[in-house]
Amino acid sequence: MRFSKISTLMGFALAASAQKVKFLPLGDSITEITCWRAIVWDMLSAEGVADQVDFVGSMTNNPQNCKATSAGFDTGHEGHSGWQAVDIANQYIEGWSESTVPDVVNFMLGTNDVNMGKTTAQIIAAYDKILATLRAVNPNVKVVIDKLIPLPFKNAPVVELNKLIPGWVETNTTPESPIVIADCSEDNGYTAAMLRDGVHPNDTGDKLMADQIGPLVTQFIKDVIAERGE
Ligand SMILES: *[C@@H]1O[C@H](CO)[C@@H](O)[C@H](O)[C@H]1NC(C)=O
Repeated sequence: MRFSKISTLMGFALAASAQKVKFLPLGDSITEITCWRAIVWDMLSAEGVADQVDFVGSMTNNPQNCKATSAGFDTGHEGHSGWQAVDIANQYIEGWSESTVPDVVNFMLGTNDVNMGKTTAQIIAAYDKILATLRAVNPNVKVVIDKLIPLPFKNAPVVELNKLIPGWVETNTTPESPIVIADCSEDNGYTAAMLRDGVHPNDTGDKLMADQIGPLVTQFIKDVIAERGE
């Protein structure tokens, strides 16, 4: 009797936490050691949905000591400095997907692959595998893919990859699992001067990234909430 009461309470607790929309910020150092996530948190707060969102991922570090202006900045993420899309696709995304089961994902990946001489075809193949793996755990996952910010010391492959992203999205987006682009590229106004160290965004770059990513993530989160309410 007692046991079943406890089980019921646990059931309620699980149901309540299951209601939160799980958002996975996935990437490399441009996701890990940057502050755009804190700005996106403020955007979600301003839209009144932050308390319904769980930022998921095995990481919770905040090396730049980023501060959101609104309360409760959730520092969960899966940004890994120096990691390549190809390695994430082949070795890590399956475990991360299974442990987090995200509803909404944002990813910017490929910068380290470019640096290590991977071809754009290899990077696109990694995107394919990451998407397929995310969809295997949640067929309704909603994905924001970011065009890459510039990498001045090796920018040509970044430009080439950014050109391929719209076609990749067109091929892969579906009504059940939509994909949209956050354009953080040079073409959309991101300049090399917004890099604090030649690779990572300074405060202006963080703001530009958040301005591109935030509204798309917010909309997807609202869509998930609306779909659950139906
Ligand atoms: C960041 O970059 C912008 C654009 O170059 C610049 O105006 C701003 O002063 C930079 N911020 C810092 C803190 O260096």
